[in-house]
Amino acid sequence: GTQVLIDTFGRVATDLRVSLTDRCNLRCTYCMPEEGLQWLGKPDLLTDDEIVRLVRIAVTDLGITEVRFTGGEPLLRPGLVGIVEQCAQLAPRPRMSLTTNGIGLKRTAAALKSAGLDRVNVSLDTLRPDVFKTLTRRDRHRDVIEGLEAARDAGLTPVKVNTVLMPGLNADEAPDLLAWAVENAYELRFIEQMPLDAQHGWKRDGMITAGDILESLRTRFTLTDEGDGERGSAPAERWLVDGGPHRVGVIASVTRPFCGACDRTRLTADGQVRTCLFAREESDLRAALRSGVDDEEIARLWKVAMWGKKAGSGLDDPSFLQPDRPMSAIGG
Ligand code: GTP
Ligand code: 5AD
Ligand code: SF4
Repeated sequence: GTQVLIDTFGRVATDLRVSLTDRCNLRCTYCMPEEGLQWLGKPDLLTDDEIVRLVRIAVTDLGITEVRFTGGEPLLRPGLVGIVEQCAQLAPRPRMSLTTNGIGLKRTAAALKSAGLDRVNVSLDTLRPDVFKTLTRRDRHRDVIEGLEAARDAGLTPVKVNTVLMPGLNADEAPDLLAWAVENAYELRFIEQMPLDAQHGWKRDGMITAGDILESLRTRFTLTDEGDGERGSAPAERWLVDGGPHRVGVIASVTRPFCGACDRTRLTADGQVRTCLFAREESDLRAALRSGVDDEEIARLWKVAMWGKKAGSGLDDPSFLQPDRPMSAIGG
């Protein structure tokens, strides 16, 4: 492609995150209420063909090289394997990954790998089945562990594990989680809780910070800065564990924002472009698609959206307002 997605701060988006559904089979307390949310209806969702078309435009015309499928829970999307398969045929072929809660991954890992998926990130907050049940409101700990093992066995590597620590629930588990990750060859990343929950219950002083996490890990491990040469635009800051080669990451969106290096653009399951997790604006590519415009017009609309990307999340502004859509409807 000859065009790129660039914003007024000179940042270029090369990484596309595509939400395939806003639904989820867990109910993590930091994400959504017990009763779930008002889900998008079938006609609202992009079809598999519409998704593949948008990914094709992004990859062939707009310089996107990395595509990550997210949710809600993307394994709930019936067409997932087919979408991956079709995206793998694109030229240039994008690198493809999946962010999942791991439920059902045992069944699909091998098919996803042969369809062309490169790697997966699996969310797991605790090693204790009872804490898992309290945190996610579902008794599915075993399924996640089995999904992780299946992903590793299928070669969807490096398998990364995403963990959110919550006070009074799993906050004391950081060192145990790291020992387990090292033993199982998973790359663990701790994520600071962000104000993106559907209930709007986030409080800054109720959050476990990157500083807290590192302090807790250092009670049992030696963490050394690897010079960060490889970080690039990745959200995770990484440390070598006990001299390496294993690494642990911290995604400190709140206390150490990385917006200046952001290389992302996002597509919601109903076909809206979002330039930031925390954006308050969206651009309606679904309406454009369904009105019959050509690829060139879609690419133009996407570039216009990108040009409106803000400098940062605005989390530190006194006037910060949480976006209307929760994390599960944006795709994390
Ligand atoms: P890797 O390429 O494997 O490092 O993926 P990733 O960490 O970018 O993606 P993943 O879907 O695993 O997300 C991990 C956490 O990072 C989630 O909590 C995301 O919401 C968060 N995250 C992803 N992209 C952004 C971003 O652009 N800004 C902020 N603040 N957080 C992000
Ligand atoms: N803050 C930080 N991380 C969150 N996740 C879900 N909601 C939040 C939040 N409010 C995590 C999930 C998953 C990843 C994609 O984002 O646990 O690991
Ligand atoms: Fe589902 Fe992810 Fe939200 Fe948990 S955090 S309820 S796994 S979308």
